Amino acid sequence: MTSRPVDKVLAAVDSGLDQSLERLFALLRIPSVSTDSAYAAHCAAAADWLVQDLASIGFAAEARATGGHPAVVAKSPGGSGPHALFYGHYDVQPVDPLDMWETPPFEPRIATAPDGTKQILARGASDDKGQVMTFVEACRAWKAVTGSLPVGVTLLIEGEEESGSKHLFDFVRANKADLAADVALVCDTGMWDRATPAITTSLRGIVAEEFKVVAANRDLHSGVYGGAAANPIHMLSKVIASIHGPDGRIAVPGFYEGVEDLPADILADWKGLCLTAEEFLGAVGLKHPIGEKDRLLVEMISSRPTCDINGIWGGYTGEGSKTVIPSEAWAKVTMRLVGKQDPVKVRDAFRAHVQAQLPADCRAEFFGSRGSEALALPWDMPVLAKARAALTDEWGRKAVTIGSGGSIPIVGAFKADLGLDSLLVGFALEDDRVHSPNEKYDLMSFHKGIRSWVRILDALAA
Ligand code: BES
Ligand code: ZN
Repeated sequence: MTSRPVDKVLAAVDSGLDQSLERLFALLRIPSVSTDSAYAAHCAAAADWLVQDLASIGFAAEARATGGHPAVVAKSPGGSGPHALFYGHYDVQPVDPLDMWETPPFEPRIATAPDGTKQILARGASDDKGQVMTFVEACRAWKAVTGSLPVGVTLLIEGEEESGSKHLFDFVRANKADLAADVALVCDTGMWDRATPAITTSLRGIVAEEFKVVAANRDLHSGVYGGAAANPIHMLSKVIASIHGPDGRIAVPGFYEGVEDLPADILADWKGLCLTAEEFLGAVGLKHPIGEKDRLLVEMISSRPTCDINGIWGGYTGEGSKTVIPSEAWAKVTMRLVGKQDPVKVRDAFRAHVQAQLPADCRAEFFGSRGSEALALPWDMPVLAKARAALTDEWGRKAVTIGSGGSIPIVGAFKADLGLDSLLVGFALEDDRVHSPNEKYDLMSFHKGIRSWVRILDALAA
C-alpha cells in the first residue's frame, strides 16, 4: 500500500517514537543554561551529546569553538535539490524561580494534562531542544529507511541563543563556506493554535542592556547620611517610571524612529482575528493590556516595540533590616524592535534618556551587548509554498503565515552574510510556558513536528 518513500519514513517515525523520546530526554537532562557561566561545562556537554548523536546517523559532526559556548556543525549530503542549513539552539533559559517548578527542571517526564493531552515537561522541552530534535529525528528516519536524505543538510545548533547569540555572528561570518546553503530552516517558533500549523514571516529585533546607577563612593548609614545623600535606588526607580507615558507610549526621545504603521489591509485582517484581552491575558491571570492606548492587542504583541525591565536589584535584601543607603542600583532591560528601528540608535537613545533623568551626584554605567534588527521575510519564497503544502498535508489544515513578537537574533545574519532566506517553522504552543517554570512541549508537537519535517524535506527535493 505505502509505496512512496515518504510514507515509509512517516511509518518509521510512528513506530520509533518511544526511542525518539528517550533521546530527547537524554538531551533534556543536560542543564545547558547559557547565560550563567557556572553551567559552561554543561553547555559543552550538550554540544558533545548532539555531535555523538548526529555522528551516529552518519553526519560529519563537530563541536566548534566560537569564543563562547560551542556551536555544533554537522553535514550530510543529499539529492540534487537545494542544500538546507538547519538552525536551532541547545541552550536554555535559567530555571528561576526554581521553587515554582512542580518537578525538577532537568528531570524530564511525561505528564497527562486534565484534558488528556500528553506533555513533555522539562526546561528546554519546547525552547528549543524538543524542536531541534524534531528535525534530527526526521533526518534519522529518512536515513534509516532510505539510506540518505532527500536534500543535503548542514545543521548549525548553537549554545548562546538565549543570551543573544553573542559569538555566533562572528562565527557565521568566519565560516561562510562551511555554512553555504540555498535556504535556511529554523525550528524555534510556534503554531497558530494546536490544530493549525504556522510559518513565521516576521520576528521582532532586540536590544538588551544592563545598567547601574551609582551615587556615593560606598554604602552609607541611613541615619548619618539619610536626608542628604542621593539614593541610587530612588533614582533608578524614577528612571524606570519615566520610560512609559500615561498613554502607554515609550517616552524615550527618538525611540520610535523607524517604526512603521501597518498597511491598512493587514490591519483590517488583524482586526478580524478578534484577539481579545480576556482570551490572551486571561490565560495568565491578567485582564488589562498596558500597551499604547490606540493599538490593537495583536499589534502590541507583534508589530509595536517594547521596553521591559527584566530584573532590578540593589541595597540590602537579606533577612531582617539594614539601615543603609546603597551606593549602587542595577537593572536589566530589553527592548523589542520592529520595522526599521536601528538597534544601535535605540540603545543610544535609551542611554541618553537614562542620563537625562539623573540628578547631579548620580551617574549611570551601561553594559550592553549587540542587538538585532527586526526581521521581515519575503512571502513569495518558493520554499514557503512547498513548506505550506507539506504542513497542510500533515495537519489536515492550511498552514497560516504569522508574525511573532519573539526574537531569534542570528536569522538576520543568514540573509546578510550567507544570502539565505529563512523558513521559520515550529510546533510550540502558546501555553508551553517557555522561559517560565514548568515548561512543556506537547507530545503531539514532538511527534507531528518530526512528521512535518519528514514531509518538508521531501517537498524541498521535489
Ligand atoms: N524561541 C524563542 C523565540 C520566539 C519566542 C519565537 C516566541 C517565537 C515566539 C527564542 O528561543 C528566544 O526566546 N529568543 C530570545 C532572544 C533573546 C534572549 C536575545 C527572546 O526572544 O527573548
Ligand atoms: Zn527562548
